[in-house]
Amino acid sequence: GSGKFFVGGNWKCNGTKDSISKLVSELNAATLETDVDVVVAPPFIYIDQVKNSLTGRIEVSAQNVWIGKGGAYTGEISAEQLVDIGVQWVILGHSERRHIIGEDDEFIGKKAAYALSQNVKLIACIGELLEEREAGKTFDVCFKQMKAFADSISNWADVVIAYEPVWAIGTGKVATPEQAQEVHAAVRDWLKTNVSPEVASSTRIIYGGSVNAANCAELAKKEDIDGFLVGGASLKWLLFVALKTPL
Ligand code: G3H
Repeated sequence: GSGKFFVGGNWKCNGTKDSISKLVSELNAATLETDVDVVVAPPFIYIDQVKNSLTGRIEVSAQNVWIGKGGAYTGEISAEQLVDIGVQWVILGHSERRHIIGEDDEFIGKKAAYALSQNVKLIACIGELLEEREAGKTFDVCFKQMKAFADSISNWADVVIAYEPVWAIGTGKVATPEQAQEVHAAVRDWLKTNVSPEVASSTRIIYGGSVNAANCAELAKKEDIDGFLVGGASLKWLLFVALKTPL
């Protein structure tokens, strides 16, 4: 693998003041492996609560950000505002924003460029739909999404790539370690050819889609799987503790 193992918890549009307070207490009390980067992404409205209560051991990510400088953009949150309250990361290109909200590669690429320009680090998500996999288009789709990100990125040190096959997200149908490894290796090879061998070997490529405490160990053994982006299971602190044992 490349670099320090990375585990992101994407809480999506879940939680209440009470449930988040409980989860933060559990995370603060948990013993986390020292050589793993741990990042949680709460809904915007709870980020300040989390920042004010979570130990500094765990970094905080936003789940989205506005495309440019703040201003008259009703309902949006700017990268400057993320920096202002100490948010270090943003998730962009998530399949739920691509396929439910309708964000396209160009829009996502611009968001990525602006966030990085403000020193907000990027969790860049890619992944194919089930029909795309069945049509043998997995690599084409992932490489096209990679190109849109790569065109917007100059500093790869601030980027983690998350491969999340859409058919595995929230379905309980986790990719097999072999399926995930195959795409991770292809994405790394794409980086080697299209960016540089250095970026290919240093950039972390993490897997997302129905990862849980029971299946993470087998996935983590694969050479090109450098971490996870976890949805549902990240709402329980057990996932983070489970990562202690296999790694
Ligand atoms: O960002 C996280 C992914 O969408 C995975 O979600 O673990 O609930 O399948 P999940």
